[in-house]
Amino acid sequence: MISYDVFYVMIICEWKFCKDPAQVIANDFFFFGLNIPGNMRNKNGLNITLVNIDNLVGLNTLDISLACIDYAPYAVISPHTHPRGTELLVVIEGTLLVGFVTSDPNKIFTKVLNKGDVFIFPIGLIHFQINIGETAALAFTSFNSQNPGFITIGNAVFGSNPPINPDVLIKAFQLDKGVVEYLQKAIAPN
Ligand SMILES: *[C@@H]1O[C@H](CO)[C@@H](O)[C@H](O)[C@H]1NC(C)=O
Repeated sequence: MISYDVFYVMIICEWKFCKDPAQVIANDFFFFGLNIPGNMRNKNGLNITLVNIDNLVGLNTLDISLACIDYAPYAVISPHTHPRGTELLVVIEGTLLVGFVTSDPNKIFTKVLNKGDVFIFPIGLIHFQINIGETAALAFTSFNSQNPGFITIGNAVFGSNPPINPDVLIKAFQLDKGVVEYLQKAIAPN
């Protein structure tokens, strides 16, 4: 059962004012620059360009959005979930190992994808991607939500602000206190 405040936050994130129809222009439906290769020189080796309601207002109420992802060799998109959207991924360049895990039982569905391959991550399920090739990879991904949301599991669990009480994480993950403290420090938001 979802708590009221989380539900409320989801609603206010999804909801945008409608523009006065007389003021709508072609550029409200336009976004450019996805031809420009993303710079992957950062610690994760990833460059994710989101095209969603925050930068393309014409998406309002249309239940669709897009992302363009550049992966350096061996870059990983950590296990995460999109609480409001199913994801459809198309590989344009490179080789990705991808997968998602169902809720109960926790069965994994995984696949190696090459150029031209398509994979679906059903709404809400935890999934991941890794570039297993020796070259950069490029993928486009679309969502049936104007604002699908993005929750990285490790960050939510070990990097919340303020932190989750370590006793919860020690029991939940059967870890030593030192390991929990290490993870909370390593993943803590800056
Ligand atoms: C993604 O690539 C763009 C274009 O090169 C660059 O301006 C931006 O800083 C990059 N983002 C990250 C997180 O590296």
